[in-house]
Amino acid sequence: MNFLELAQSRYTTKAYRSQFVSEDKIQSLKEILRLTPSSINSQPWQFVFIDDKATKEQFARISYINEQRINEASHLVVFLAHNNDSAFEAHLHKTSEMGYGFYEKIQKPRGAAFVQEWIDRQVYIALGFFLSACAAMGIDSTPMEGILIEEYDRLLKVDGYKTLFAVAIGYRSDDDRNQPSQRPKTRLPLTDVVKEFKL
Ligand SMILES: Cc1cc2nc3c(=O)[nH]c(=O)nc-3n(C[C@H](O)[C@H](O)[C@H](O)COP(=O)(O)O)c2cc1C
Repeated sequence: MNFLELAQSRYTTKAYRSQFVSEDKIQSLKEILRLTPSSINSQPWQFVFIDDKATKEQFARISYINEQRINEASHLVVFLAHNNDSAFEAHLHKTSEMGYGFYEKIQKPRGAAFVQEWIDRQVYIALGFFLSACAAMGIDSTPMEGILIEEYDRLLKVDGYKTLFAVAIGYRSDDDRNQPSQRPKTRLPLTDVVKEFKL
């Protein structure tokens, strides 16, 4: 399948069958996440993989309507962003000495809220990368902002980072009524969202 065909066929999976994603595929996904591009190569993230059934159940309980799909899925992957604090600045200094100047001169003066949003945006790039990678590898996925992020943080106890969202991955149930063969994709018309421009 070419990329357009993958974009047409991937979808947000609502029901999974009980089948694990193999360890070599999980290792590839971890490496792909590590290779995600980010502004000034800041890499302000952590990705937490959970496959233990009992642990997954605890996260499922604090995930609203996503509970069942997390329990059924093979893995839950939690995406965390660096908090905007001194640890982040130290991290940035280490990962991107040249980029640090851009951060200090351009980004930091825009204020703490701006900087945190900028950090968070980088993690969403990893989400797009990850969903595409899953599709390319024949793995189904469910991106989820519908989770109790403070409760996730409480369970994960990761210092200096905060949960933004999570993704369940695995293999769809034949009965999943959300798959494109049963429910065609809905998107705005191309002409509404893509424009040509020339001065
Ligand atoms: C950042 C983000 C958060 C989402 N959160 C949820 C969620 O909590 N639960 C859910 O079932 N779907 C969630 N979705 C799925 C969207 O509703 C879905 O991507 C959109 O309706 C387009 O459908 P498609 O992914 O099947 O093409 C989320 C998607 C994104 C990108």
